[in-house]
Formats: sequence, C-alpha cells, structure tokens
Amino acid sequence: MKISKLETKRLILKGLELSDAESYEKNFADYEVIRFLSDQVPWPYPEGGAVDFIKAVVLPKQGVTRWSWGIFLKDHPDEVIGCIDLWRDGRPENRGFWLAKRFWGQGLMTEAVEVVNSYAFEELGFERLVFSNAVGNERSRRVKEKTHAVLLSQRPAGFVDPQFTEAETWELTAETWWAHHRPSFIGNYKDMMDPDDHPLTPHDGKPSNHEW
Ligand SMILES: CC(C)(COP(=O)(O)OP(=O)(O)OC[C@H]1O[C@@H](n2cnc3c(N)ncnc32)[C@H](O)[C@@H]1OP(=O)(O)O)[C@@H](O)C(=O)NCCC(=O)NCCS
Repeated sequence: MKISKLETKRLILKGLELSDAESYEKNFADYEVIRFLSDQVPWPYPEGGAVDFIKAVVLPKQGVTRWSWGIFLKDHPDEVIGCIDLWRDGRPENRGFWLAKRFWGQGLMTEAVEVVNSYAFEELGFERLVFSNAVGNERSRRVKEKTHAVLLSQRPAGFVDPQFTEAETWELTAETWWAHHRPSFIGNYKDMMDPDDHPLTPHDGKPSNHEW
C-alpha cells in the first residue's frame, strides 16, 4: 500500500519501493552503519540484500502495520540516503533508522524523526513509541534526547559489532510530544501531502482510518 510522502526543510521521505533497492544497498552496506544495528542484520551484507528486504519485509506490510520511508535530499532527490521505519508491534521498539555515513552530523536524522513522530501520533494513532539503541551509540542516543524521548532501562542485547552488548530502551508518549510540538508540525506536514494521498482529518485523539 502507498504511504504518505512527508517533507521537511531539507528532506523528502517517500515510501520505499523496489526501484530504491540499488541506492539503498549502496549506502547501507557499510560496516560503519550496520555495526550499530541488531545482530539480526546480516554482515557481510549480501549482494541483493536490499531487494530481498524490500520485497519480503517492507512491501507486504507497508501502510498496514509498517511504514518504511526512504530518505531523499531535496536537492538530490533520486538517491535514497537513509531510511526511517515504524512498525505497530513493538519488539519492544517501534522504530528504526539509518543514514549514509557521509551525511552524519548535519541534523538530518533529527529532521526526519520530527516529522515521522508527528505523523505517528497524529495520523497513525500511536499513543507511545518505544525506541532502542546500543549502549555506546551516542549519535542515535542524541537524536532521541533531542526529540524528547525518555530513557527507561537497559537490557542485554546483541548487535552486529560484538563490542555492543546492551541496549537502551526509550519511550516517547504522544502527550510529551505534543507538549513540545503542537501545533506547528501538524501544519507542516499536512501542507506537504501528495494531492493523491487520502485527506487528513482534524486531530481528535483517534487514528484516522486510511492505514487500518
Ligand atoms: C544515528 C544516525 C541515524 C544519526 O544521524 P545524524 O543525521 O547524524 O543525526 P543528527 O545529526 O540529527 O544528530 C546526531 C547528534 O549526535 C551528536 N554526535 C555526533 N557524534 C557524536 C559522538 N561521537 N558522541 C556524542 N554525540 C555525537 C551530534 O553532534 C548530534 O547532536 P547535536 O545536534 O546536539 O550536535 C546515524 O549516525 C547513523 O545512521 N548511524 C548508524 C546506524 C544507526 O546507528 N542507526 C540507529 C540504530 S538505533
């Protein structure tokens, strides 16, 4: 199912498609990116791994229980330079993200997270989001801190880089998010919807029905 396109000052977030697989893999298959991820992610990353991931994991659930956006720069809109995903059933987390290393440290993921958080609470009806990162993944941790998540706990966990042995669990409630962001982000992303996307309804605390 098609998912809404979201925009920020510098980025366009578009639902991942098979045609994105080549640039996805080119940017993702980098140990500096993958080493921070769960040890469920294969390393060395297999050739064609992105096609398999998009076909088997993303597309069957896209817009139903999963929302996987490719991240594109507005001034270079043909290449996926990262990804941000939400999923309904927490394990315990509901979100993942990565960005090609050459773009780190410019605030780009924080920008993507802000619009996706707003969309999750406003349109998808999440009441809380749970996030996770390796203890020692300071960049990921910082993105969460900057976007008002609250650290809950630590637990043992395996990552591609075996030097990471524990995960932090974070929570962000809709209430906390809207205390910081309402109403500016609602307007920001509503104005940027594709004309062929379903119309957005005013926020009434309930999920709108187009993803259900
Ligand atoms: C995590 C990741 C998505 C962050 O993307 P990004 O666009 O660089 O993030 P931002 O620029 O929005 O924010 C990064 C923050 O970390 C800070 N930072 C950078 N290096 C740091 C370090 N070594 N220690 C502490 N903070 C650091 C930056 O200064 C920035 O914070 P600031 O705005 O307060 O200065 C990116 O580093 C990445 O893809 N990493 C590999 C994959 C990964 O870890 N995914 C998440 C798994 S939970």
